[in-house]
Amino acid sequence: PYITTIDRRSDLARGLREKFGLKDFFIVNGDADQSPELQKELSKMMAEELQKMFFDGAVISVAGGSTMANVGNYLKPTDEKLLFVPARGGLGEEVGNQANSIASRLAVATGSGHKVLYAPDNVGENVLEPLKLEPAVKEVTELNQASDFVLHGIGEAFTMAKRRNVSEDVLGQLREKGAVGETFGYYFNAEGDILRKVKTIGLQLEDLESKQAVLAVAGGSSKKEAVRAYMKIAPKNTLLFIDETIAEYLLNS
Ligand code: F6P
Repeated sequence: PYITTIDRRSDLARGLREKFGLKDFFIVNGDADQSPELQKELSKMMAEELQKMFFDGAVISVAGGSTMANVGNYLKPTDEKLLFVPARGGLGEEVGNQANSIASRLAVATGSGHKVLYAPDNVGENVLEPLKLEPAVKEVTELNQASDFVLHGIGEAFTMAKRRNVSEDVLGQLREKGAVGETFGYYFNAEGDILRKVKTIGLQLEDLESKQAVLAVAGGSSKKEAVRAYMKIAPKNTLLFIDETIAEYLLNS
């Protein structure tokens, strides 16, 4: 039965590569919404693939989220000199789930360096613009633009909006426009149109294309619409880490 499971997953991954033309798909069994263990499996799979990509001098942009937060538990120390950079500022998340915390965790796990982005989100333009010119902030922005890899999660739009305490007004707008997913501050609809972008400093969607690889992770049936929509925005250099429930949905819908 073990072999059968592996065959089944590689069949699914092959089907997805053919359908979407992305770099690769990695799949865990089951529905990650049903089990915290599966969520951890996803993070582990991402960590293992990332570990194979390390090279001396690699710069890695990392976003936040609970799935990303577990990745550090599965990375091993390396002799390669790496630098982890937070992809965005706080995004209103709980501190353990913020990109800054995760960049530092991944750095500790691998024995590498990391940067911190001292920039709050959702500040007014009059604060944001001068902040962008601050040398410490500018350095992180430039590192994000030049980084080799990006790691990020994909979330369901309203789960993320609520987690970030957005106003009723914004919630209403997202509802009206049919938001289904969110990734590092960008909310999108089922067609993959960007509906709203949290105005902040850090990695931008258009920075992804030039990376050696973008590792994106999402598990659980509650995220299946979000991931399907993300397929319309994902750059070709994406490695997607998902569960079987999402994989089947992507293939059959
Ligand atoms: O906050 C960063 C982020 O990558 C979001 O952009 C994404 O929607 C979210 O994490 C996913 O979070 P989780 O893994 O907790 O579902």
